[in-house]
Amino acid sequence: MTTQRPTGRVLYDNTGRVILVSGGAMGIGRAICEAWLKSGASVVCMDVDDEAAAELPDGIEFVYGDTSKEDDCRNAVAFAVESHGTIDVLVNNAAIQPKASYVPVHEMAQELWDRMVAVNFTGYTLLAKHTIPIMRKQQSGVIVNMASGQAHRTARQVPAYGPIKAANLHQTRQWGVEYAREGIRVVSVSPGCINTPMVRATLAEQGGEAQVANRHPLGRIGQPEEIAAAVLWLSSADAAFITATDLEVDGGLGAFAAFADPYPM
Ligand SMILES: NC(=O)c1ccc[n+]([C@@H]2O[C@H](COP(=O)([O-])OP(=O)(O)OC[C@H]3O[C@@H](n4cnc5c(N)ncnc54)[C@H](O)[C@@H]3O)[C@@H](O)[C@H]2O)c1
Repeated sequence: MTTQRPTGRVLYDNTGRVILVSGGAMGIGRAICEAWLKSGASVVCMDVDDEAAAELPDGIEFVYGDTSKEDDCRNAVAFAVESHGTIDVLVNNAAIQPKASYVPVHEMAQELWDRMVAVNFTGYTLLAKHTIPIMRKQQSGVIVNMASGQAHRTARQVPAYGPIKAANLHQTRQWGVEYAREGIRVVSVSPGCINTPMVRATLAEQGGEAQVANRHPLGRIGQPEEIAAAVLWLSSADAAFITATDLEVDGGLGAFAAFADPYPM
């Protein structure tokens, strides 16, 4: 028995709000852009993949930019502010996990480590650095950092991705504490295994989708729209008392101690 997937209902009215999403051209970021567009928001997507961005639905504005470059982050923030007057929600979502990074740490190539730190960690800080002054001026805003189940637990062959995702949790705590009295909330979301291009690239090596799905107590992998739904809620007034913390959206994966369970799922 599995739980139902989302129905695509529009639960929030974000008319008049402006959201900037990094890595919004594909996968989870794209689902976030689409959900926010449906909820009435002005949506700006920053990404390095202009081909994928060309497939975004009408109404989502695209600004080319590499989150590891400070000028690009400054430019994306300026673009959103010039187009829409402000930024109410920033989603730090762009991250990479190249196949070549699945090695033990003693085989980790220095250039790959540097690139993953630059995109998955520094990129989050750079976009926040340039967005927070806008949010401070209006004394409100929400920043959502996309972390991962791998921020909380680890596995073999993720010597960069896992530790850097754990650092995303601490960015969330640190900025959340820093700006709490200025109306700015900072939260992170830690997805389990979600059906996106990033994951589809490695599912085969992890035993295929059925095998990976079976490791989740809910018996399936997640859909990008289910992460978008969490972001909608966490960025809403309903979540006004939630800051400097993380929400795992993982079908029960993180709570399940496979080693201790005598009953096969
Ligand atoms: N899919 C999962 O199962 C899963 C699980 C846990 C966490 N996450 C996290 O969710 C986020 C999104 O993952 P996804 O699976 O949708 O990834 P994806 O690879 O499918 O999409 C990532 C998007 O980010 C863009 N991007 C990459 N580098 C960029 C850069 N330097 N600047 C701007 N854009 C850039 C890509 O072009 C792409 O559009 C990531 O932070 C990832 O670590 C994903």
